[in-house]
Amino acid sequence: MSDLSRAQILAELRTDLRIPVFPQVLRQMEAEFARGHDADLNRVCDLVEQDVGLATQFLKVAYSSLYPQVDAAISVRQAVKRIGLVDARQLALASGLTAAFDRTPSARVFWRHCVATGLATRVLVDLGRPELRAFTDIAFTAGLLHDVGALVLATLHPNEVAEVLAPERDIDGEIHIVHRERSRWGIDHAAVGRVVARKWGFPEELSAAIAFHHEPWSAEPQHQSLVLLVHLADFISGAYGLQTDFQAELELPDPEVWDAIGVSFDDVDTILAKVRALEEKTVAWVD
Ligand SMILES: [Fe+2]
Ligand SMILES: [Fe+2]
Repeated sequence: MSDLSRAQILAELRTDLRIPVFPQVLRQMEAEFARGHDADLNRVCDLVEQDVGLATQFLKVAYSSLYPQVDAAISVRQAVKRIGLVDARQLALASGLTAAFDRTPSARVFWRHCVATGLATRVLVDLGRPELRAFTDIAFTAGLLHDVGALVLATLHPNEVAEVLAPERDIDGEIHIVHRERSRWGIDHAAVGRVVARKWGFPEELSAAIAFHHEPWSAEPQHQSLVLLVHLADFISGAYGLQTDFQAELELPDPEVWDAIGVSFDDVDTILAKVRALEEKTVAWVD
């Protein structure tokens, strides 16, 4: 067990947390707002969707008491549109005042993992059982934010997190990241994510996707489908080169997971091709 404890982490989560924004995304955002009346709300939505730090800020505001009409889960795009261009500019500026995400290779890999998981969740909705279409709006947001707890931990304790993630450091014989975190700190990134999602007023559906993405069968039955979608998307984005070194070891999801979504292992190539096509169309890569 490290010096850092569960109690300390939980105490820190009660403070005003902000996740750093990727500098490249922030620069493009500023350039868009600099166009004044010609600034394009759709372009702003595209940019917010590319960054977990910005996306969480916009959702926090959309779900806050400033916008009491929001009661169901809304997508990042819907949050930006509800807030509007003028307030969006202020919010983006305020988000940019926090330290920008550092540009080390691991930060870039993680950033890419979040976006790829969002896109993969969306692709699974399209390819899976027809009843999953109910998640069309929320799928990308749930996938993008699934590891928000890991970003919070990395923001608060970058050195500790780097140690836990290093694949050559086999902490207490545990391979899976969640078990390493628990044996080290007594809490894992999914549980941290649930605490911040609730604190920020995110709906239960989104909190569940964040809280149970590594243990989908532990989710309440009414949230199971979205949780399973994110679980499978996380695996696909992690295991097939959409990113490589964040989670060193990935277990193949149970056959029941694939069945519940209505896809099979043989569909992975199709899913990856669709995710890559969406990446090319929608994402300005940070290089
Ligand atoms: Fe995770
Ligand atoms: Fe993940």
